[in-house]
Amino acid sequence: MDSRINQTKLIATEDDVTPTVLAAMEDTSDPRLKEIVTALVRHLHAFIREVRPTEAEYEKGLQILNTIGQQTDDAHNEAVLFCDVLGASTLIDLINNDGMQGETMSALLGPFYRGSAPECSFGETIARSETPGDPLILSGRVVDVNGQPIAGATLDVWQASPDGLYENQDKDQADFNLRGKFTTDSDGRYLIRTVKPAGYPVPTHTTTGDLLRAQNRTPMRPAHVHFIVSAPDCKTLVTQIFADTQDAMVNDVVFGAKDQIAGNLRLHEAPLDEYPQDQAPFYTCVYDFVLKPGVPSFPEPPIKGKVS
Ligand code: BEZ
Ligand code: FE
Repeated sequence: MDSRINQTKLIATEDDVTPTVLAAMEDTSDPRLKEIVTALVRHLHAFIREVRPTEAEYEKGLQILNTIGQQTDDAHNEAVLFCDVLGASTLIDLINNDGMQGETMSALLGPFYRGSAPECSFGETIARSETPGDPLILSGRVVDVNGQPIAGATLDVWQASPDGLYENQDKDQADFNLRGKFTTDSDGRYLIRTVKPAGYPVPTHTTTGDLLRAQNRTPMRPAHVHFIVSAPDCKTLVTQIFADTQDAMVNDVVFGAKDQIAGNLRLHEAPLDEYPQDQAPFYTCVYDFVLKPGVPSFPEPPIKGKVS
């Protein structure tokens, strides 16, 4: 379509709108901004032509956008949640992280990453207050795509309590409960003590919940632990390790589960020589993270703190 068509004429018909709007944007100086916004206009207008919303529907759509903003605060990020259940976050994730160099597959960040978690020593527990659930020992190595261990890699880890809430959603959990930052030893090894995660529903008291109910969809996420694994000269890996059934993973409300990041949890009914201080029963999960070469970068935390 020639975006300069109609440049000197006023809009007269439906067909005049898109070329006129694109022509108005022709002088955008940042080429990437120009590419993004002109594509947005083309696709938005095509969407409107396909759906042909009524004025009342348009008003409702704008109201939803405003409400998503109003429902976002320091402890809740409705925009992230809404995009997650539309599959947009997973699509962006896979466009930017295709796993083609043998690196560990990524998974969406989600709305509950707080950043600035306390530094933890090798093997420390991230259960900082009374937390229900079976003990879980997570261990493994961080390696490069050639299998070489990466010493001094950072694993920023967070998960929901088995009662289904992240600490930022729950006044009864200690600040930063089930969150911590670990460093690999000289062999690239990490060791994290925590509790076995459970599947949980995403928050449903806001706009996203209204949509899920209207679509007769489950709000459930399969049980998982989040990780941001980083090291110098490596692309930062944002991922989740899953601890649930195939069925629960297939039905993940945010489409984040992948086979390659399914953890293999084992139940131990008797003590293990490797962990003499841990009372059975407990679970273990061994998972090696593979980082590919790249420049480290870190996501902006979608939330800052706890509910007050
Ligand atoms: C999460 O795993 O924390 C999450 C991801 C997307 C939406 C809601 C929660
Ligand atoms: Fe989560």
